[in-house]
Amino acid sequence: MPPNPSPNGQREFRDCLGHFATGVTVVACRIEGAPHGATVNAFTAVSLDPPLVLVSLDRRSKASRYLADTPFTVNVLAADSAAIALHFAGRTQTGVDLTWLDHDVAPRLAGAAAWLACTPWAQSDGGDHILFLGEVRDFATTPVEPLLFHRGRFRRPGAHLDDSVPAARLAEAGPWLESLDCPSAAGWFGAIADGPLSPAHG
Ligand SMILES: Cc1cc2nc3c(=O)[nH]c(=O)nc-3n(C[C@H](O)[C@H](O)[C@H](O)COP(=O)(O)O)c2cc1C
Repeated sequence: MPPNPSPNGQREFRDCLGHFATGVTVVACRIEGAPHGATVNAFTAVSLDPPLVLVSLDRRSKASRYLADTPFTVNVLAADSAAIALHFAGRTQTGVDLTWLDHDVAPRLAGAAAWLACTPWAQSDGGDHILFLGEVRDFATTPVEPLLFHRGRFRRPGAHLDDSVPAARLAEAGPWLESLDCPSAAGWFGAIADGPLSPAHG
C-alpha cells in the first residue's frame, strides 16, 4: 500500500482535496449565552431517515470544543457572503452585516442561502479533526445563490449544465432509472419533498 502523504506532501494533499468544489457554511452554537461561528466547508449530507448531516472540525478550533454535546446550526452562505466566510475563519472583517437570529436549537445567521438546526447525534475521531453528526430538527432555504469554494478561492455558481444533457440521453439511461440517483424520483437530483421533516417557514 502506498504511504500516507508525508508532512511535506501535505500541501499537495490539500491541493488535491481543494479540487473538490464545495459550498461554504458557518457552523454556529451558543456558548455562555453568546453565538460562536466558524467557517466550515467540510459539511455533508449523511442520512435522510433519520435526517443527519456531518461537519468536520479541526481539533485546534474553538468550535470543535464547543460542539461537544451542543446543538448547532449549519448556515449555508449566500454568494455575496465571502466576507462573512473570512470573518468566521478568524480574519475579522469590519462593516459586514452579521445578524444573529434566535432559534430554539441554536443561533442562526441572517441572509443564509439555507440553514439547518441540529442536535448532537454522534461524534467520532477524524484524525486531526473531529466528526460531528447532527440530527436535523429544523431547516429552511432562501432562493439565493450559494457561495462556492474551489482550489482555495471563493466562486459563485455558473451555468446549469444539466440543461445541456439531451432529454433523449436521459431517456436512454435505463439502468440509471433503477438507481437512487434517478432524476425523475426523489433521489439526489430531486427536492426532499416528503422526508421525515418538512421545512420551516420564515
Ligand atoms: C473556506 C473555508 C473553509 C473552512 N473549512 C473548515 C472546515 O471544514 N473545518 C475546520 O475545522 N475549519 C475550516 N476552516 C477554518 C476555520 O474557519 C478557522 O480555523 C476558524 O478560525 C475556526 O474558528 P474557531 O477556532 O473560533 O472555532 C475553513 C476556513 C475557510 C476560509
